[in-house]
Amino acid sequence: MAKEIKTIGVLTSGGDAPGMNAAIRAVVRKALANGLKVKGIKKGYMGLLNEEIYDMDRRSVADIIQRGGTILGTARCMEFKTEAGQKKGAEICRKHGIDGIVVIGGDGSYRGAQKLSAQGINTIGLPGTIDLDIACTDYTIGFDTAINTAMDAIDKIRDTSSSHERVSIVEVMGRNAGYIALWCAIANGADDILLPEKYDYNEQRIIDNIIDNRKKGKTHHIILNAEGIGHSESMARRIEAATGLETRASILGYMQRGGSPTCKDRVCAAAV
Ligand code: ADP
Ligand code: F6P
Repeated sequence: MAKEIKTIGVLTSGGDAPGMNAAIRAVVRKALANGLKVKGIKKGYMGLLNEEIYDMDRRSVADIIQRGGTILGTARCMEFKTEAGQKKGAEICRKHGIDGIVVIGGDGSYRGAQKLSAQGINTIGLPGTIDLDIACTDYTIGFDTAINTAMDAIDKIRDTSSSHERVSIVEVMGRNAGYIALWCAIANGADDILLPEKYDYNEQRIIDNIIDNRKKGKTHHIILNAEGIGHSESMARRIEAATGLETRASILGYMQRGGSPTCKDRVCAAAV
């Protein structure tokens, strides 16, 4: 018979995402309500290997539901990718009486959780990433906040692009997944979209589209470019040379990972 779980650990790993704090809060309070002990593990698998582990109570997660980032901190840990690192992690869990771990993170963090499970530690993954790129789940905590942050920023870029009659290439995050780009392209009414899942490398088609739209009297042209395609700056230079129209690239970057989580992200994070 499987050993009874009395103590769980919780960690956040990989890129942070808005709503991770709400998820930590839900895990801690639900576990305590069910009579479990909870240990917080700081800085992902790196903190596990460094034994940055502390006892959590109800008050440890007070006043965090609305905050971006993660109170546990997060990190990328190369050592945990090795079998020796995974064995060490499992031994540290046993040493601290941790019977199971809740890992909140993206697909890489999930792979880590699988490896820990193979070393005999029960693991549960909660999908937390702005990229929406985890298999077998419809949603990942953080995506809604990220697309709303990006959408607001792109609206602002559109204002100035229109005033100056410029072409704008806006690059959004997502690693190899195009979900943020796709949702924003629709929500912001972009003229062109470049997705890693469906890219034909046909820049001439975009150039023709820009020239065509300009002839029709359009004062701006927004191209939504996914991080997985990248090269927004050089693309802007080529498009400017080909069209004769001022073209600017804006790479939104880390602002997409921060900020107070939306209602959807808080509620999804609470559904543990
Ligand atoms: P995310 O979880 O946001 O996708 P990463 O891909 O960087 O972020 O993964 C986070 C961490 O998960 C890595 O730094 C590493 O410690 C662990 N990890 C990723 N892939 C593996 C793997 N194949 N085996 C073990 N651990 C992994
Ligand atoms: O996974 C979230 C994410 O923000 C991706 O969209 C991006 O590719 C990556 O993390 C950036 O990671 P880092 O924080 O290591 O620069």
